[in-house]
Amino acid sequence: MPREKIIIDTDPGQDDAVAILLALASPEEIEVLGITAVAGNAPLHMTEVNARKVCELAGRPDVKVYAGCDKPLFLELHTAPEVHGPTGLNGPILPEPAMPLQPEHAVDFIIDTVLAEPPGSVTLCPLGPLTNVARAIMREPRVAGRLKRIVLMGGAQTEGGNSSPVAEFNIFVDPHAADVVLKSGVEVVMFPLDVTHQVLTSRVRMDAIAAIGTPVAKATYEMLDYYRQYDEKKYGTDGGPLHDPCVIAWLIRPELFQGQHVNVAVETGSALTIGQTVVDYFDKTGRPRNALYMRKADADGFFALLTERLTRL
Ligand code: BDR
Ligand code: CA
Repeated sequence: MPREKIIIDTDPGQDDAVAILLALASPEEIEVLGITAVAGNAPLHMTEVNARKVCELAGRPDVKVYAGCDKPLFLELHTAPEVHGPTGLNGPILPEPAMPLQPEHAVDFIIDTVLAEPPGSVTLCPLGPLTNVARAIMREPRVAGRLKRIVLMGGAQTEGGNSSPVAEFNIFVDPHAADVVLKSGVEVVMFPLDVTHQVLTSRVRMDAIAAIGTPVAKATYEMLDYYRQYDEKKYGTDGGPLHDPCVIAWLIRPELFQGQHVNVAVETGSALTIGQTVVDYFDKTGRPRNALYMRKADADGFFALLTERLTRL
């Protein structure tokens, strides 16, 4: 099997960080062409630094990290310090990165890379608000036709929202960008809260990560131990959802997840429901099926994969 060439577009974020670690720990299956940072969980000047800290934690200072958009297409930026902490990556104390930030803008990097690689060979993996991705598609329309697909974390339907009663954070922060992506014609694979809320960092799973005993595992444990507290209190669960790594896990072991090909549209107008993802399970609208919308996860299989891969770093 050829390796999947990916660009990770991200706003780290502890769960973003674990997704990056999982990708970098899986070189047989995944080639990370670059990491593009976007404003989301924290402002851009923090998310780009966090992305570099995570690459260094993984022992991969050679990975190219680019800074992208510092605010959504039209709305004011909304961050989530109550979930991720004021740095976006609270938990472990990680050193300031020595590896450089690339001089190119993330949107230019996405465009240049997708046009330079063979058509149909690059997968975009957005783990935050879709601002960088939408800007790339809007600025260079050939990007949409040349991508293999977009595999993203975002959206919510049966679970309700986590940023409003109906909207999931990544879509809520930049609904107009999500609208561009979902109407782009690119094949989209979506990991909404409906599936990520099945993938919980329970005490037993956390203990298995701690038992690895390496510096990377220790830092991962500390990140997740911080990150789980907000959601445990909110939902009364044993552990919090590990959203973003589902995207990478699917690239490695697609059989861990099940979904349905549907039309997904985003509400961009209503003050009451802005950012809601409207999922047409029964073809009621006649709109084209634009997304594989994930609904079920094998959570034990997911954590077995993650734990095994973390031992490699
Ligand atoms: C998403 O929002 C962020 O807080 C997480 O990193 C994840 O990408 C979950 O709604
Ligand atoms: Ca994220």
